[in-house]
Amino acid sequence: MDKEVRNIKNSIKAISSEILNGENYSRDDFARSILNYPAMMVPSVQEPIIENLSHAIEGEVSLLDPFMGASNTLVTGMKYGMNVFGQDINPLSILLSQVKTSFYDVGELIDAEERLINRINSDKLNKIEISFANIDKWFTKNIQIELSKIYRAIIKEQSLKIRKFFWVALAETIRLTSNDRTSTFKMHMRTVEEINTRLVSATKTFSIVSKKNIKNISDFISILMLNGNIKRGKYIKKAEVVWGDSLSGIKTSKMFNLLVTSPPYGDNQTTVTYGQFSYLPLQWIPLCDIDNKIDLEYLRTTQEIDSKSLGGQIRGSINDIEEKIFEKSNTLKTFITQFKDVERKKAQKVTRFIYELDCSIDKMLPRMKSNSFLVWTIGNRNVNKQVVRNDLILSELFFSKNIELFTGLEREILSKRMPGRNNFSDTMSKESILIFKKND
Ligand SMILES: C[S@@+](CC[C@H](N)C(=O)[O-])C[C@H]1O[C@@H](n2cnc3c(N)ncnc32)[C@H](O)[C@@H]1O
Repeated sequence: MDKEVRNIKNSIKAISSEILNGENYSRDDFARSILNYPAMMVPSVQEPIIENLSHAIEGEVSLLDPFMGASNTLVTGMKYGMNVFGQDINPLSILLSQVKTSFYDVGELIDAEERLINRINSDKLNKIEISFANIDKWFTKNIQIELSKIYRAIIKEQSLKIRKFFWVALAETIRLTSNDRTSTFKMHMRTVEEINTRLVSATKTFSIVSKKNIKNISDFISILMLNGNIKRGKYIKKAEVVWGDSLSGIKTSKMFNLLVTSPPYGDNQTTVTYGQFSYLPLQWIPLCDIDNKIDLEYLRTTQEIDSKSLGGQIRGSINDIEEKIFEKSNTLKTFITQFKDVERKKAQKVTRFIYELDCSIDKMLPRMKSNSFLVWTIGNRNVNKQVVRNDLILSELFFSKNIELFTGLEREILSKRMPGRNNFSDTMSKESILIFKKND
């Protein structure tokens, strides 16, 4: 190992636990505040790692996040002037990421917000613009009327970029004003009493969220400008986000020298339901304003996005899957084969998830250049009251592909909303950050 690479390894190892545990960091910075997307990365955790690795990479850095979620990884890469490319299967992640990686003229946003609020206040129509199964279960009539006014006001905006910005504000408004509880990512209705006594206005919420988002994006643009990463009203490098299933492939011919990601931690039913979280907002946002390739099928039921995501579907025979994946990970084999009957059946969801994760890694590797780094943040979880060592399993998967662990760090998770009532999955308390190096 050459001296410079050894130095980088040492400086990553020296990243202090205060930084990793986010103790010096405000959770309300621009990157996390624009929409409360599930399981967001903490930028302050990624930042020192991304910064250190950028010194170990020769020439321009091109960063890939194949499970980009709220695109906090991409945003961190942009602070360091990197080319960034993100992919996600969830259309809400795409919309949010398109907004976060675009350059906005803050004056234009302020004018647009004023225009929208005037339009909403002078709209006297009671027409409801959207219809889907169970709309009355998830929204009171008054909220449906207010959301429809917001919808009509946004759709009148000429600029797609401006519409996208305010669709994100509408998504957050929907999260805060629907009858769905905000305390879980799964869809759970509030009690009837709560719904009847709640005083909530969609218009006021939309105005507050829009103003906050304008402030957040303006803070981000100021940082980019300060770092010299904006020239002539544009980000100096490439920032691209695409809608796509990373299990089928990475939808670009670009090559990357840095991959930073946090994949789902297990099957969707029992870990984080990104799709259910996105279901209600996506009913109110025209998908063609996000990407006209997005299939409406994705919104057919509340389960649809999750079932299409990693670990979401029963594909293939379990015996074949076990045979292939146990060969790569002895930790997984030992974990699964300790169970019998019902417990074994439950644990098989882990096998399927790991198998799909492994297949998706095979789709990413051809896009990674020689001497590239791959940073994976992954948490362990409990199944049948036993810990699934996702960190060891992931290292074994990479080892089977001749890619060795470069170094690793661990951090405590301060707050992560996991499905607590479900005995299949307990709350995670530690996350591992595993850094691999692809040599050839
Ligand atoms: C833990 S989140 C990513 C968090 C992100 N790094 C951040 O900073 O916000 C995992 C993401 O993986 C996405 N995902 C799940 N299955 C996928 C697949 N097959 N292809 C692409 N994205 C997928 C989910 O929609 C979710 O947004």
